[in-house]
Amino acid sequence: MLKKYILAIETSCDDTSIAILDDYTVISCVTKDSTKELNHYGGIVPEIASRKHEEYIIDIYKQCLYESKINPKEIGYICYTNEPGLPGSLHVGEIFAKSLAYFLDIEAYPINHIHAHIFSAFINTKDIDYPFLSLIASGKTTSIFLIEGPTKILELIKTNDDAIGETFDKIAKKLGLGYPGGPKIDSLFDKTKTSLMFPKQSVLDNFSFSGIKSHVLRIIDQQIKSNTLDVVTIASSFMNWAINTLIEKLNYFKTKYDINNICIGGGVASNSLFKSEIKKTFKSSFVPLKEFSCDNAAMIGYLFYQTNLFKK
Ligand code: KG4
Repeated sequence: MLKKYILAIETSCDDTSIAILDDYTVISCVTKDSTKELNHYGGIVPEIASRKHEEYIIDIYKQCLYESKINPKEIGYICYTNEPGLPGSLHVGEIFAKSLAYFLDIEAYPINHIHAHIFSAFINTKDIDYPFLSLIASGKTTSIFLIEGPTKILELIKTNDDAIGETFDKIAKKLGLGYPGGPKIDSLFDKTKTSLMFPKQSVLDNFSFSGIKSHVLRIIDQQIKSNTLDVVTIASSFMNWAINTLIEKLNYFKTKYDINNICIGGGVASNSLFKSEIKKTFKSSFVPLKEFSCDNAAMIGYLFYQTNLFKK
C-alpha cells in the first residue's frame, strides 16, 4: 500500500506556491513570488499576476516533487485555495488542482486562504488546543476570529473600509517614508512623542480606518503648508492609536469569551508595540514561523489535514 501524501496549491495573489505534506508535517514547500516582476508596474496587475502563475506552476510542481522525493502516484489528496483572492489567480490554481486530481484519479478540495493563515502558527503540530482567538492584521485584512475547531471559525469583527496595514502604508507614503509603511513608522516610533490624540473606536463596532487616514493626511497637509511638519510625532501618535485600537478590541473579546490564547498573523502583527502589548494582554500567543507568515501552500495543506474532511 502506497503512502498517501497531501499536495497543496496556493495562487490567491502574487505568490505561486506548492507544498507536500505527510499528514501535518511539511516535507517540501516551494514558493515563487512575482513581486519583483510586478513592481515594475508599481503594484499588482491582476491579469499579469495570473499569467505569472500559469508560467511558473508546472516548474514549481516539479521542484516540489523533486525536493520531497515522492512519486506523483503517492499523492492521495489535492487541496487548493479557492477564496478569497484575485479571480484570475485563483482560477489558475483551481484548474491545475482539478486537472492533476483527474489525472491521478483522486479528489481536489477547496480551502479558504484566510482560514489557512489563522492556522499557520501551528504548522507541523498534530493537536491544537481550542478555543482560541485569532487576529489577522495585514495590508488587506483586519479581522478578529473565534476559533472553536478547524471548521468552526467565526469572524467576530472585520474592517468596514481600509485595512490597518494599508493605512500605515498610506500615512507613511504621505510622510515621505516609502513602502511598506508599517516597518518605517515602527522604526521611528517614540513613546514620548505620541501627543496627537485621535477619537477612540467603540469596542462593539467593526474596525474602521478610512476616517483616521483622512484625518492624519489632513494634519500632514496643514503642517507641510505651515512648514512645521513633525514626522516623528505624527507617525508615533498614529501607531500608538492604531495598536491601542487593536488591543482594546482584543481585550474585549478575551473577556467576553474568557479566552487567554491568541494566534496572530499578517504583517502588522510584527509591530514592536503590538508584540509587547499582546504579551501583557494574553497568557499565550502564537505566531507563524517566518517561512509560513507570507502566502504559502504549506498552510493550505495543513488546514486541509486539520479539517479531517478526508478519511485515510
Ligand atoms: O501580511 P502582509 O505581509 O501582506 C499583505 O497584506 O499583503 O502585510 C503587509 C502589511 C503592510 O501594509 C505593511 O506596512 C504592514 O503589513 N507591516 C507593518 C509592520 N510590518 C509590516 N505594520 C506595522 N508595523 C510593522 N512593523
